[in-house]
Amino acid sequence: MNILVVGGGGREHAIAHYLSKSPLTKNLIVAPGNPGIKKFAECYPISVDDIEGQCKLAKDNNIDLVFIGPEIPLVLGLKDKLSEIGIKAFGPSAKAAQLEGSKTFSRNFCKRNNIPQPDFIYCNDIKTAKDQIELLNGYCVVKADGLAAGKGVVVCDTVEEAIYASTQMLENNKFGDAGKSILIEERITGIEASIFAVSDGDTAIILGTAQDHKRAYDNDQGPNTGGMGAISPAPALNDSLNQEIFNKIIIPTINGMKSDGIVYEGILYAGIMLTKDGPKVIEFNCRFGDPETQVVLPRLETDLVEIVKNTVDKKLNGMKIDLFDNTAITVVLASQGYPGDFKKGSELPLLNKYDQETNISIFHSGTSENNEKKLISNGGRVLSVTAIGQNVKECRDKAYKTIEDINWEKGFYRKDIGKL
Ligand code: AMP
Ligand code: GLY
Repeated sequence: MNILVVGGGGREHAIAHYLSKSPLTKNLIVAPGNPGIKKFAECYPISVDDIEGQCKLAKDNNIDLVFIGPEIPLVLGLKDKLSEIGIKAFGPSAKAAQLEGSKTFSRNFCKRNNIPQPDFIYCNDIKTAKDQIELLNGYCVVKADGLAAGKGVVVCDTVEEAIYASTQMLENNKFGDAGKSILIEERITGIEASIFAVSDGDTAIILGTAQDHKRAYDNDQGPNTGGMGAISPAPALNDSLNQEIFNKIIIPTINGMKSDGIVYEGILYAGIMLTKDGPKVIEFNCRFGDPETQVVLPRLETDLVEIVKNTVDKKLNGMKIDLFDNTAITVVLASQGYPGDFKKGSELPLLNKYDQETNISIFHSGTSENNEKKLISNGGRVLSVTAIGQNVKECRDKAYKTIEDINWEKGFYRKDIGKL
């Protein structure tokens, strides 16, 4: 098969890496890709939101299947546009991607389908927001409705904080249109975990679980980030909880979509909080997580192309997906200052010597090459170092030894990823 991967971060590096290992893959191209991916697949400088450009690239290269990595092209309808020109794509349609693209859509959908979640109210004026915030005594979560690059959620302790966050979104245009309407949610408590299912619209299968570490610094201190590291399987989950989440959350979502006339095809990523009343949905994403992909994919024993192909051919029914009995940990090496202001363009140490390692992978997130073809940092999250092993200790030892060995002095990382 000729495959195009859309995206250029650590998630897409991991996806492209595992797709390239499959005997079913003939030609693999990536857009825009990154210097890490360029070592094994042709990369084209087309951005993920250039829907026409991505369609043309797929057509010009006789692509049989497009794997769409990030949420933006999904929400913009890349899958729908590809389908119009007869090209199959792995990932949900624009309508189905609203589960991630609009928090209001997602919460209303869960409510109609009795999927467990926190209470919420919708507001598009500050008066309604203030009334609700006061009712909850400020102990609530304020969320911008639309996509805000992971920054549109403010977890509040006080009335002042919550009113400030709501005013920023509703009146001060903080997230543009994405914050023109907001949700005020009941603040729930419990351990968080992520579950990744694949669905062809009829059948869903769990591919893996992970725990993300979203705060910037050790012991969950500091601001929220896109994710500073992850472990798979999620230490808080087990087979019986997975089954409960599958029955109460995953299946009702796929079926609810179906009864609304929407085929949910691709990855359904449920962010779950394990509350004393059982698992509840914190959020849905319509794609793999970053950096969770970097720990979920190494544990898949079943060929990734086979899974993707069976999904787009609607043949998941009866398919068995096997996982290795191992653990994976990824630690993100970020630019100093991230998620606030940080500098780009710092030279990175040579990484080629890790290419031969079997249980260590270095996935590129924000890297590029300068005029002299030297590898430089080009984003907040720069590399993610994944280690595979028999247990958490082995993975942590390997990942941290590698990160210390890389020794990039302009970077920082959390030292407690996967620490139990
Ligand atoms: P999200 O971007 O929706 O994943 O939210 C970011 C983080 O905010 C989550 O990982 C949770 O830690 C927290 N969060 C979101 N919604 C709630 C809620 N209703 N109650 C408590 N914490 C929440
Ligand atoms: N790591 C969180 C996400 O991908 O949304």
